[in-house]
Amino acid sequence: MNTIDLTVPINKIPQFRFIGSKHSVLSNILEVIKKKEIYGEVFFDVFSGSTSVSRYFKRSYSIRSNDMLYFSYVLQRALIVLNDYPNFRSIDLPLASLEPNERIINILHYLNNIKNEEGFIFSHYTPESLKIDGIERKYFSTENGNRIDSIRTKIYEWFNDSEITEDEYFYLLASLLMAVQKVSNISGTYGAYNKFWDTRSAKPLRLNFIDIVSSEFRHQAFNKNTFDLLNDVECDIAYIDPPYNERQYIANYHILETIARYDNPEITGKTGIRKYGTEEKSTFCSISSASNSLAKLLRGLKTKYVVLSYNSDGLLPKDEIIGIFEESDLKKITVTAFPYRRFKSNSKSHSSELMEYIFTGEVK
Ligand SMILES: C[S@@+](CC[C@H](N)C(=O)[O-])C[C@H]1O[C@@H](n2cnc3c(N)ncnc32)[C@H](O)[C@@H]1O
Repeated sequence: MNTIDLTVPINKIPQFRFIGSKHSVLSNILEVIKKKEIYGEVFFDVFSGSTSVSRYFKRSYSIRSNDMLYFSYVLQRALIVLNDYPNFRSIDLPLASLEPNERIINILHYLNNIKNEEGFIFSHYTPESLKIDGIERKYFSTENGNRIDSIRTKIYEWFNDSEITEDEYFYLLASLLMAVQKVSNISGTYGAYNKFWDTRSAKPLRLNFIDIVSSEFRHQAFNKNTFDLLNDVECDIAYIDPPYNERQYIANYHILETIARYDNPEITGKTGIRKYGTEEKSTFCSISSASNSLAKLLRGLKTKYVVLSYNSDGLLPKDEIIGIFEESDLKKITVTAFPYRRFKSNSKSHSSELMEYIFTGEVK
């Protein structure tokens, strides 16, 4: 059966504020896949990020999704791997007679009203940080910093006490990460906080119900450097959406990573960035290694088709990418270009004529 048209409605795909999110171009990707007659059952979302592409195609294909960021993995587990609502059978709350959806709504309500507890986020990413680190970091209001810590701690406690399963843990954690984005005092990424308080940051943090999209396929999520995964995933279609400029994701999303891991990291500087090593840096973010990385990736993928998204503003020019496709022995190479609205961040000037490219190739 050709399931390509069974895509998930766009309104069921959460709009996560994420550099390079493909949320607004999902239908273009679908169109290219159809037009270029790319077929298959297993779809490998090599750089899953906010998970928008995997979520869109989870009814069309069996998904393998991956990202080196742990917070992306949390989203993948909840938004892609889950095909049913988790039951929350063992949780010690009075929910016994309720349906799964009602149970979840009640649990979220419980967490939204939990007693405030001070923790890492409150101490380092709210104005409270002035007392502790000598720097006033305005990422969250003190109330929301408290809420994030209280909810994060409770979710872990439940998991640690076996009151919730791993699936349930990831469902609640994903809901927390999505709620955090809505009250963050930032202009796009966590690379900096706003000097003045944005109206969104004054709103109380609220966990929301996440819709689970069912599908007939089984899906798998990974949290690895892609190069360490190539031998383990066989697919029909490899969708490649690498970083295309020098902005490292770990630096721009450090607080979401810390909330997801909740590992009390060593932090530094004005923005309280978590310390990260070279192994957490993407080689696609450097002009000296992007080209070799793409060539290495194309050689290593076990796939029949390759679909690559890239941007005209990226480190690698279009012709160089075509050259890398040719050298990697891909056949029937095509490029489709369409105008693209740039991700909004106040820190950079906006170039006007931005194009999004979709490259395709076949392995024969
Ligand atoms: C352009 S974004 C992907 C956006 C995604 N398609 C979406 O719609 O949200 C690139 C992603 O690649 C991840 N990444 C970069 N280098 C990686 C590597 N070597 N292995 C795994 N993930 C990597 C980053 O963490 C980031 O999430």
